Amino acid sequence: MFYKPENGHNLPRNPLQACVVPRPIGWISTIGKSGALNLAPFSHFNFVSISPPIVMYSCSGYHVDGDEKDSALNAKETGEFVYNMATWSTREAMNLSSKSFKRNEDEFSFSGLTKVSSEVVKPPRVGESPISLECKTWKCIELPEAPDKSKTILVLGKVVGVHIKDDVIKDGFVDTVKIKPLARLGYKDYAIVDKAFSIDRPD
Ligand SMILES: Cc1cc2nc3c(=O)[nH]c(=O)nc-3n(C[C@H](O)[C@H](O)[C@H](O)COP(=O)(O)O)c2cc1C
Repeated sequence: MFYKPENGHNLPRNPLQACVVPRPIGWISTIGKSGALNLAPFSHFNFVSISPPIVMYSCSGYHVDGDEKDSALNAKETGEFVYNMATWSTREAMNLSSKSFKRNEDEFSFSGLTKVSSEVVKPPRVGESPISLECKTWKCIELPEAPDKSKTILVLGKVVGVHIKDDVIKDGFVDTVKIKPLARLGYKDYAIVDKAFSIDRPD
């Protein structure tokens, strides 16, 4: 099949999210101007450059209180966020933290997660995540308007601190299979990394 996104498709559910998979999940913690903590998952997330180390996530649609989602607003207003890795063992808490909360409600407490102080930035990290990246917002870019006129904000941040739990480092390498990172597929589907293989580069 072929279709242009603006013309729609003839499938029962939008297939587009299933066309770029698996997507890593950026589990993003931020703090608002008022000091309210926030945590939410984003699968429109990635590591876009190693040097300088830059990550990005995008927030689409509106917050329950109107205007931008907390994760975009906070990263813009206070200039910091933390990426936490979502894993098989944190899948339920990660999903709970995606609920539409009011601006001053704290998803850490609702999801039963441990707040651990960061080293460089103010937002805490998720204690249950084996890997967290402390980030300073570099740029927020408003993407073209959606057909329903809702906004999408792309947040780019520079990594200023890296946390890796010692127990996931084996012989000097991060043991990804032990971590079992969670990834997003299309629809309501997820994948986990529980098998890895290596290939040598040709040069
Ligand atoms: C696995 C997963 C991935 C998600 N990815 C995105 C995403 O990429 N962009 C987005 O706007 N919302 C995404 N969401 C929904 C947000 O997490 C949800 O709207 C959340 O309430 C936003 O919270 P905030 O207003 O505190 O930032 C995702 C939800 C789940 C469960």
